[in-house]
Amino acid sequence: MLGDIDHIGLAVADVETALHLWRDILGLEVTHDESVPEQGTRVIFLNGRNAEIELLVPLGPETPVGKFLAKRGPGMHHICFVVEDLEAAMAEAKARGLELIDEEPRIGAKGKRLAFVHPKSAHGVLIELCELPEK
Ligand code: CO
Repeated sequence: MLGDIDHIGLAVADVETALHLWRDILGLEVTHDESVPEQGTRVIFLNGRNAEIELLVPLGPETPVGKFLAKRGPGMHHICFVVEDLEAAMAEAKARGLELIDEEPRIGAKGKRLAFVHPKSAHGVLIELCELPEK
């Protein structure tokens, strides 16, 4: 059901110190920087070797990432796996007893179609399923 890890999402409280770490100290390159107002998040991608790093910067305290930061502080937010057919993967996840946050696919950064599996049905890990846009 799951393909490669596409990216690892990190909740970021301060974009400059996060970029300093991932870009300047650890040497990754910023490949994409986009605000997704529907999700209340600025999304910055850096090119890891096998998977990307996605920095999630809340556009305000009442956004999902803003609330996540208030509750848990900066750090790991989610793991994203590529799936070939998002609707099929969502149906399969549900059939196997997982709870989805998204009943319908949503559109994320870079126009990718994605859906989240609820962390309470995944041992506390927020799992993102995404479809590659070139499909
Ligand atoms: Co993501």
